[in-house]
Amino acid sequence: MDSVKSYIEKNKNRFVEELIELLKIPSVSADSTYKNDVLKTAKFISESLKKAGCDNVEICETPGYPIVYGEKIIDKNLPTVLVYGHYDVQPADPINLWDSPPFEPIIKKTEIHPDGAIFARGACDDKGQMYMHIKALEYMTTSGNLPCNVKFMIEGEEEVGSKNLSWFVPRNKEKLTNDVILISDTGMIANDIPSITTGLRGLSYVEVEITGPNRDLHSGLYGGAVANPINILAQMIASLHDENNQITIPGFYDAVEELTKTEKEAMAKAPFSLENYKKALDIKDVHGEKGYTTNERNSIRPTLDVNGIWGGYTGEGAKTVIASKAYAKISMRLVPNQNWKKITELFKNHFETIAPKSVKVEVKPHHGGQGYVTPIDTIEYQAASKAYEKSFGKTPIPQRSGGSIPIVALFEQELKSKTILMGFGLDSDAIHSPNEHFGIWNFLKGIETIPYFYQYFTELSKNLINNNNDDFLE
Ligand code: BES
Ligand code: MN
Ligand code: MN
Repeated sequence: MDSVKSYIEKNKNRFVEELIELLKIPSVSADSTYKNDVLKTAKFISESLKKAGCDNVEICETPGYPIVYGEKIIDKNLPTVLVYGHYDVQPADPINLWDSPPFEPIIKKTEIHPDGAIFARGACDDKGQMYMHIKALEYMTTSGNLPCNVKFMIEGEEEVGSKNLSWFVPRNKEKLTNDVILISDTGMIANDIPSITTGLRGLSYVEVEITGPNRDLHSGLYGGAVANPINILAQMIASLHDENNQITIPGFYDAVEELTKTEKEAMAKAPFSLENYKKALDIKDVHGEKGYTTNERNSIRPTLDVNGIWGGYTGEGAKTVIASKAYAKISMRLVPNQNWKKITELFKNHFETIAPKSVKVEVKPHHGGQGYVTPIDTIEYQAASKAYEKSFGKTPIPQRSGGSIPIVALFEQELKSKTILMGFGLDSDAIHSPNEHFGIWNFLKGIETIPYFYQYFTELSKNLINNNNDDFLE
């Protein structure tokens, strides 16, 4: 029987080649011009699952893009791991900022990835990380080392809010029953500082539209006498933060849980260099809520950010105009306990209230989701921690992330199981940005770590059952 390490050594070139094929398909869920490619990717995943040894592989239709399901049930009495991931990717633009075409993957060495990294949209988020699970399964089935049952659920709409997955999960509770959910769609601190993500922020995403006069106007003839929607929108947005960079929406912080001093001290132990952070981003200073550190600001505190703003004339040269309309897309990152629907409501009411009479305002909610925190005193966390110890030779640090995977809170609510977030990406991998990449070392390390998790989780679950039985017999 091959060990996972030797199996990887023998097959790593093929693993990378297969991932490259997957990355060539532009599965951009946000842009309907890529519809056929998104569907083609679902087919690719279903074929990969079959080849890796999954049974009952299905492309489950939804009102949107399909969910690919597959399973390997070896014994109903053994625990079941449910793997979730997504095969859709973010749009590649701005395309001119890529050093190589986003859907023509290439391998390049970087300072952080001396063994090479694959550059392509989706390399890290999430095709590369999701594919690690399929290859880990391939190893376990072909070598006879699958210790428990496994189910795969890979969706194609994560980057656009997982609307149809929220529809699918409550309707397929029986099919999806599991003992733990395993996801690789986050990151870790550094290749020599492994970490396990123990929290995700929630999200509320809205779009606002400000309407002034009923048509674009000459800015000389009307300027100064009618509200300019762009000026007004800028003022309204600016007023959403106070001088301490706190959000001014009444009630916004009501449910926010303050961490205890001990919890904050534990957080501060994670290795972090503010100097390197600033250097990596080429900024002279950081910016954020007064009274909190950078790591607190980007994980345990809620935020409000404009993601896009537009209106008026943006073409070449100058045009003197007061536009009729101005728009912005705004996201709020939320922390566990903040209800995203309530926050969306609070935003809407506040934004409508602060608009002057001279303009009309419309707030259109997009999507959102709840934040998540996972305890570390569970057997699933212990299993994950032991798996990293085995593959990295170091105990991983538990760390809350600032990103969001809104569906995770829904999993817990509907399927009543905890999620383990085993991310192998790095912040510098540029997910959602031009030149996204994923280290080949990280890709292979993930494939190595995953089967250890299955093994330890199965062992610890059995111990738990045996111990409980002992208690029962006493
Ligand atoms: N994989 C990311 C989320 C992530 C990345 C979490 C790194 C933690 C660390 C996911 O694909 C993503 O981009 N989520 C979106 C939200 C979604 C509703 C579009 C996000 O966080 O912006
Ligand atoms: Mn992702
Ligand atoms: Mn993403």
